[in-house]
Amino acid sequence: MLAAGTDGLAIALEQKGPGSQPMPPQQDRTMSATSISRALTPPDIRARKGGTPIASLTAYTTPIARIVDRHCDLILVGDSVGMVLHGLPSTVGVTLDMMIMHGRAVHRGAERALVVVDLPFGSYEESLEQAFRSAARVMAETGCGAVKLEGGESMAETIRFLTRRGIPVMAHVGLTPQAVNTFGGYKVQGRGAGADQILQDAKAVSEAGAFSVVLEKVTEPLARSITEAVAIPPIGIGASPACDGQILVIDDVLGIFTDFRPKFVKRYAELGRDAEAAIAAYAEEVRARSFPGPEHVFGESAKSKRG
Ligand code: KIV
Repeated sequence: MLAAGTDGLAIALEQKGPGSQPMPPQQDRTMSATSISRALTPPDIRARKGGTPIASLTAYTTPIARIVDRHCDLILVGDSVGMVLHGLPSTVGVTLDMMIMHGRAVHRGAERALVVVDLPFGSYEESLEQAFRSAARVMAETGCGAVKLEGGESMAETIRFLTRRGIPVMAHVGLTPQAVNTFGGYKVQGRGAGADQILQDAKAVSEAGAFSVVLEKVTEPLARSITEAVAIPPIGIGASPACDGQILVIDDVLGIFTDFRPKFVKRYAELGRDAEAAIAAYAEEVRARSFPGPEHVFGESAKSKRG
């Protein structure tokens, strides 16, 4: 999808077929004058260390990716998709096929932002070879620019293995939701003795070659110290404004996912509430026969009614 540009940025090649029909990524890698745009790369994100904070959000679908792409630097196709779109109780049940399907949808909607796709639970922990196979599938089949995986010191060798073989990796330390069963819930991390380990984790993934690291639900002072201590940009979620970037789950930001609301979430819209009102109004109008109205139906001649 990406061809290196002369200024260190990249040229993004669209992966769209004729009309609105998407084509498999392997078949439609074409460059035309109208389909070239600058896309951010992992080195661009890495170079933002200490600079303008990196604005990031998750996305799982093409229309939302298009909107996020116009405003953010990085789009994460998070395995949170399992909870917010598929109704799963945690991210543990998310599969590689699910991530690839959503990764492809998001990649179709993104022109400028770096698209990062999560490797789901069970797809990379077993061996270096398993991690490479899963990550290579994600990269080749979605067209994304990088993968993300959870874990610190214990995953450093995997990160080194992947990055040396052409797969840019974003790491994720602190609260790692795929380990919810080990943590015993979504608890704040880094209070007390655990703080040192999280700092070690962040240093280990940075030294192993990750271009960035998500810092999730750790105390503010710890997030601040990690940001000062590591060479790569930490992107915070429930961490600190001192981080080099921030990320939230899009359905939380828009007020669509309302099953629970972590303290670190700020809602910028109430689309769930608006959708409820719209759907209730539609059902009421159908029952009252006030929808469809005259403007929504077709007459016998094209002149008498629109369409
Ligand atoms: O899956 C996800 O959405 C994530 C973010 C919370 C960082 O990992």
